Amino acid sequence: SRARVTLDRDFVVGAVPRRIFGSFVEHMGRCVYTGIYEPGHPTADDQGFRRDVLDLVKELGATVVRYPGGNFVSGYAWEDGVGPDRPRRLDGAWHTVETNAFGLHEFVDWSRVAGVEVMEAVNLGTRGVEEARALVEYANHPGGTELSDRRRKNGHEDPFDIRLWCLGNEMDGPWQMGAKTADEYGRLAQEAAKAMRLVDPRIELVACGSSNSGMPTFGAWEQTVLGHAYDQVDYVSLHAYYQEHDGDHASFLASAVDMDYFIESVVATADAVRAKGKHKKHIDLSFDEWNVWYQSGLDTEDQPHVIEKAGIWKEHPRIIEDEYSVTDAVVVGTFLNSLLRHGDRVKIANQAQLVNVIAPIRSEEGGPAWRQSIFWPFARTAALARGVILRTAVTSDRYDTARFDAVDLVDVSATWDEERGRVALFLAHRGLDEDAEVTVDLRGWTAGRVTRAEVLTVPEGGDRHTTNAQDAQDRVGLRPLDGVRAEGGAVTLGLPPLSWAVVELE
Ligand code: AHR
Repeated sequence: SRARVTLDRDFVVGAVPRRIFGSFVEHMGRCVYTGIYEPGHPTADDQGFRRDVLDLVKELGATVVRYPGGNFVSGYAWEDGVGPDRPRRLDGAWHTVETNAFGLHEFVDWSRVAGVEVMEAVNLGTRGVEEARALVEYANHPGGTELSDRRRKNGHEDPFDIRLWCLGNEMDGPWQMGAKTADEYGRLAQEAAKAMRLVDPRIELVACGSSNSGMPTFGAWEQTVLGHAYDQVDYVSLHAYYQEHDGDHASFLASAVDMDYFIESVVATADAVRAKGKHKKHIDLSFDEWNVWYQSGLDTEDQPHVIEKAGIWKEHPRIIEDEYSVTDAVVVGTFLNSLLRHGDRVKIANQAQLVNVIAPIRSEEGGPAWRQSIFWPFARTAALARGVILRTAVTSDRYDTARFDAVDLVDVSATWDEERGRVALFLAHRGLDEDAEVTVDLRGWTAGRVTRAEVLTVPEGGDRHTTNAQDAQDRVGLRPLDGVRAEGGAVTLGLPPLSWAVVELE
């Protein structure tokens, strides 16, 4: 098959929003405990942070990490996780016993070692305006009040200076503790945002959009919530998880078509509220949960995914530790392309989650940590997508899918880093049968050197379902992509069937 890509130096989507390479740490399963935090692990530092996991987090290149949930936050009292007394509590979201050994101070310390920004969610499920306001005072006020002095007494003299705040989580979801109607939530978000900003005017606030685009109230929810809170918030959230249904790999590989449509629908809704309310500012998008998640494929006694029976009151049980395949990695590459292509409006995005729980990084208690297949497209895109996003004009051969009709076999995004003089291309080939011959027309550049060309595809002896595992940690990974030719303004390359590739040129 064939694809032709045209890039023009002057056709720019916008600056690469570095916060789209975000991730997510929820108190869920083994993401915190035995994930990022395991006192007594051979690699743990004096705070109990696993250094083997930290090394992988740095290599992954996550820029911002959302915390502490997720569904968990809707029943969470942040005070339980600070200070010397850490009560054991039932976490109703995942039917787990939460020890509270890890809390806000530990997360802020961890984020500094990891080199990531904190994105903190407040509980607007079982709690309200005052608890959210108090948390901002505890975290960000310098001192001289009971709350800020409590933070200082608890070991952090300087304010945490957390800029990015989520106003609850998935508040439209019937599974959520304290779920609300759009009017109830819209007003609560408006008032919580107002009170939080009165403590610290520099904060940025994310209102909950729909839990997913399949919710019966999708669209109407965004409209009503923003109708109330437009002036007080900066972003509206999107969440989406995808999986292969009934062996329909063709549609699954095209999932980014749905992601494109979802993003464009939320942009349209936010802009309709803007027009109707005669607002000046735009509301941007925070895609603060996205990934592949086999929600219907995994439900065993040992590792249930169903919320009602998730942890059955154990401490850090195994929950949704999906093992990702070559196919999943290609799909994740296309999600990153979709986020980049919409980087003029999607300013924040968080892959859910960071370690063990539907995650690019896996770890075992007392044992090793390793990279899943989906680690690679994330790590390379986060490292190389710098400068500005370029518009990509793509003419590709197409293939038929049950869900989306005809879809491009080759999916592309591109960035131009003027400072380093480099163009980066991120390419996915959805076809399973033959190579894709890709020609790229670079208008306005004369690229003469290929500085990086790597591909992730089906390994020798494997198939599209091949995954990495504790005893085969490098089965799926990147290898050199041979045969990339760059001459003047023309680049040609071949992509093997079912592959994700990165090509950088100068
Ligand atoms: O990431 C797993 C869960 O998915 C989150 O807790 C919730 O927000 C979403 O439904």
